[in-house]
Amino acid sequence: MPITTCIFDAYGTLFDVAAAARLAAQEPGREVFASKWSQIAQDWRLKQLQYTWLRAVADAHTDFWKVTQDGLDYALEAAGLDDPELRERLLSLYWELSAYPEVPAMLAALKDAGLQTGILSNGSPDMLQGAVDSAGIEDVLDAVLSVQDVGVFKPHRSVYDLVGKRFGCTPDEVLFVSSNGWDAANGAGYGFYTAWVNRAGEPMDRLPWKPQLVMSDLTGIPAAAKAAP
Ligand code: LAC
Repeated sequence: MPITTCIFDAYGTLFDVAAAARLAAQEPGREVFASKWSQIAQDWRLKQLQYTWLRAVADAHTDFWKVTQDGLDYALEAAGLDDPELRERLLSLYWELSAYPEVPAMLAALKDAGLQTGILSNGSPDMLQGAVDSAGIEDVLDAVLSVQDVGVFKPHRSVYDLVGKRFGCTPDEVLFVSSNGWDAANGAGYGFYTAWVNRAGEPMDRLPWKPQLVMSDLTGIPAAAKAAP
């Protein structure tokens, strides 16, 4: 089926989630944080995601901003840091994460090819708006879809249903792109034609479904959409 619509996960896929901690680590006076920032960024992301899954299975939904704060609090405590000013700084940087360098041209190429483009994310609408604005990619996105509209986090199927509801397309017309192995697996299981952007060279998640494509960054997405079987 020809691809009509390209849908992207947000955090880690279009936006660099480690950028907040990396930038804060470069600021003067943060020598202790600078020695631990990479582990803290990793724990922050992992806990943020775990809390989304745990809340989904426990039917205890909240917004993504709350689990983002909770994940950071866990990560800072695990690193032995009690620093309210650093906490506020990291959280404020999360609202203006940079996009990966290839993102604007890649989205523009999809629009030039006549495809519909969108984000499908756990992020709350205001967080996503902040990231889209700071990356300057609003003009090359047709929709920013948030789980907030269904009240459960990925990978619940009702989240993936948002794409067909918004664009009126079937799953096999969608190229779904995520850097999260579990999201890519579930997108493929849902029926999307799926690309996993494996920037870090991680192993494939052991789940019942596999993405059709594996890439190391987003530059090949327009060609992959065109070449889809
Ligand atoms: C998102 C997370 C999973 O944007 O990265 O939905």
